[in-house]
Amino acid sequence: DEAKAAYGSAFSFDEVEAGVDEHHHVAKGYDADVLLRWGDPLFPDAPDFDPLNQTPEAQARQFGYNNDYVGFIPLDGAQNRGLLVVNHEYTNEHLMFPGIVQVVQKADKKDPSETVAELEIKPADRHRVDIEMAAHGGTIVEIVRENGKWRANREGKLNRRITANTEMRISGPAAGHDRLKTHADATGTKVFGTINNCAGGVTPWGTYIMSEENIHGYFGGELPADHPEAANYKRLGLPEGTYAWNEFHDRFDVSVEPNEPNRFGWVVEVDVMDPNSVPKKRTALGRFKHEGAESIVNKDGRVVFYLGDDERFDYVYKFVTEGKFNAQDRAANMDLLDHGTLHVAKFGEDGTVAWLPLTHGTGPLTPENGFNSQADVVIEARRAGDLLGATKMDRPEDVQPNGMNGKVYVMLTNNTKRKDSQIDAANPRAENAFGHIIEIAEDGGDFAATTAKWEVLLKCGDPSVAEVGASFSTATTANGWFGMPDNCAVDAAGRLWVSTDGNSPKGTGRTDGLWAVDTEGDARATSKLFFRVPVGAEMCGPQFTPDEETAFVAVQHPGDGGEDWEGFGRLSYYEDLSTRWPDFKPDMPVRPAVVAITKQGGGRIA
Ligand code: FEO
Ligand code: CA
Ligand code: CA
Ligand code: CA
Repeated sequence: DEAKAAYGSAFSFDEVEAGVDEHHHVAKGYDADVLLRWGDPLFPDAPDFDPLNQTPEAQARQFGYNNDYVGFIPLDGAQNRGLLVVNHEYTNEHLMFPGIVQVVQKADKKDPSETVAELEIKPADRHRVDIEMAAHGGTIVEIVRENGKWRANREGKLNRRITANTEMRISGPAAGHDRLKTHADATGTKVFGTINNCAGGVTPWGTYIMSEENIHGYFGGELPADHPEAANYKRLGLPEGTYAWNEFHDRFDVSVEPNEPNRFGWVVEVDVMDPNSVPKKRTALGRFKHEGAESIVNKDGRVVFYLGDDERFDYVYKFVTEGKFNAQDRAANMDLLDHGTLHVAKFGEDGTVAWLPLTHGTGPLTPENGFNSQADVVIEARRAGDLLGATKMDRPEDVQPNGMNGKVYVMLTNNTKRKDSQIDAANPRAENAFGHIIEIAEDGGDFAATTAKWEVLLKCGDPSVAEVGASFSTATTANGWFGMPDNCAVDAAGRLWVSTDGNSPKGTGRTDGLWAVDTEGDARATSKLFFRVPVGAEMCGPQFTPDEETAFVAVQHPGDGGEDWEGFGRLSYYEDLSTRWPDFKPDMPVRPAVVAITKQGGGRIA
């Protein structure tokens, strides 16, 4: 610790040892307590979790699956009571439903004259699909801290589940456009549900933002090749048909409802203070595979939202509201997200950023290119970015502004498809397996500026392997490096924390986790491991309470088997699972869960 203090690290905790096992681990002197797990009842009348007899109705009253974004909204200004808002990104059927995996004989890929036994998920039925739909979306739940420990209050008056069936409004420039009209909705403004909500945000006025990311997997059926939306959908990988929802719900079948996919891929804003409020899809912020939507109040009062589009070779965006934040009048802020300017980033070779406006009628965004209005621009934000010459990035995930130093951090998780010929200054490695973090400094400390400077904060991966080309500081230990940055948070002291998605026993010899990363002074690019997940999981969150005494983290898909590690998390249910985290009971499956990390005896996370 003395050595660390000497070079000025902002973090004094004792680092966790990197590795892989069936448990979670947190730095010495801290507690990491499971707060909410898949199936936990959220209302007085909600049934207890019964994994062998799950129903869609029960699931819609219980904590959903695959917790991702975690936000905290204090209630009544209190430090010990607030709303936890949690996204439920997707479902892992093989880990959720008993007896779902079957053994099939298939032709051997190496020798097609031979057959081999393979595990396969059984075809879906409507009951299963409806549970999946109820397990998606988000949770809003009151949490209370008593004697230093957090618990969920199922009596909370503001508790709410949002699912793939919740009624929502479409607002902003694409609302009511013909391209959003369906058989069920001639107005083009009313849609049911939100899906694949990855990261998100809490606005300065205390609403909850859920970002719709990988929407392509939920739509099936065939769109005729000459359909006017064919190119639009191809750019988003639609329809992929992973989830079989289209077999039971026509709106997910593009041959029946060809416009339905235009009603997804947005950011959704939820007024958490009214449990009956109708969530709004805010189309002014563009339609793409939204990772998150973290924001900051600019010095002139406008609010700036940073947005990543998580796909190989896609873009970083920011949205600047037209109106100003009113701290005295919450209601005055409720439609700020309907008016403003969406920009896409061009990272220059000279270390500058140009934020290019996606405004109809400017540059190439004209009828000659198929953009007849701002609705067309936001519906096809990616194509607008293509025409403007935005920089094709290595999968932009969270983008987080830091009000303490005026910087913005961009998590670029990886891109193994980048070729040598496609390297640029902002994406400097071919076959970028481990990702990197870019730091943006907006010109003049003005988050609404259209020009900025950028530099690479960190190239990730094992610094002891020269070919990897990682750039962690030499003070970073063998436990401190990581690959695949995904989510991040800036705590109240302005310190950066990074959670990862994709570290694995074979790939990096460690699970995912939460790392603390120094950004300032001679400790810059020093990283320390604070928390690690059980095998098979990815790390989501983190979210700090304003007093910095609690970090909420989300353990997503524990026990899941990646392609690159054998022996863990095989396709199965119960008997072969590599971990039964967090219950470790024979009658309980492995469960995604949110964990609250606090210092033993109380105090700030250091
Ligand atoms: Fe759902 Fe971009 O991670
Ligand atoms: Ca995820
Ligand atoms: Ca993510
Ligand atoms: Ca990810």
